[in-house]
Amino acid sequence: MTLQVDVVCLFPGMLEGPLSESIPGRIRERGLADIRIHDLRKWGLGRHRSVDDTPYGGGAGMVLRPEPVAAALDALRRPDSMAILLDPGGEVFRQARAEDLATRSHLILVCPRYEGVDERIRDLVDLELSIGDYVLSGGEPAALVVIDAVTRLLPGAIDDASTVEESFSAGLLEYPQYTRPAEFRGQGVPDVLVSGHHEAVRRWRREAAVERTRRRRPDLLPPEA
Ligand code: ADE
Repeated sequence: MTLQVDVVCLFPGMLEGPLSESIPGRIRERGLADIRIHDLRKWGLGRHRSVDDTPYGGGAGMVLRPEPVAAALDALRRPDSMAILLDPGGEVFRQARAEDLATRSHLILVCPRYEGVDERIRDLVDLELSIGDYVLSGGEPAALVVIDAVTRLLPGAIDDASTVEESFSAGLLEYPQYTRPAEFRGQGVPDVLVSGHHEAVRRWRREAAVERTRRRRPDLLPPEA
């Protein structure tokens, strides 16, 4: 089944290029995902297709108005849609959420710009997502991150073994990998990897992944029993 993704944003050019390249590009070409990028101004107000205004109560910057977002969602929503607002105050985007989104049939990603969104926009969507604890100038790069992480999980998108084995699915960081040359600037390759002993390789990788996670990202490990 094809995942349909509708992205509503103010700078479609920020998405068109990246989504035509590499794995996302191939996923689209092969019809695994149907990604459409819409300019929010299409639903803007008045002759100038305005989408923002000054904040009530005063203060710097502009605020995204609710009507253009509501009109976009009215036009795009289906019974099976999940509408998502990209926002630094949203749920932090993690692999488990990417896996959930990859099972859906229709995603609508709303990317605000400007200094903020009218609070009433939050009621129009099903979920708010943040890609991390930093502030971007707009939601477009965040939408790219979400689309990349989700579409690569679609059945047939990439070699299934790589998605199953990889770090965050198992809740661990990736184990160390090596390729040729056997010696590089004085550093060799762990003997076990050239031993041809598959079970030993499997065990070494598991232990190395746990060790690396303990050192670098102990927050990912389950609490000690
Ligand atoms: N918009 C601005 N910053 C963001 C973030 N960190 N995640 C998602 N959307 C954003």
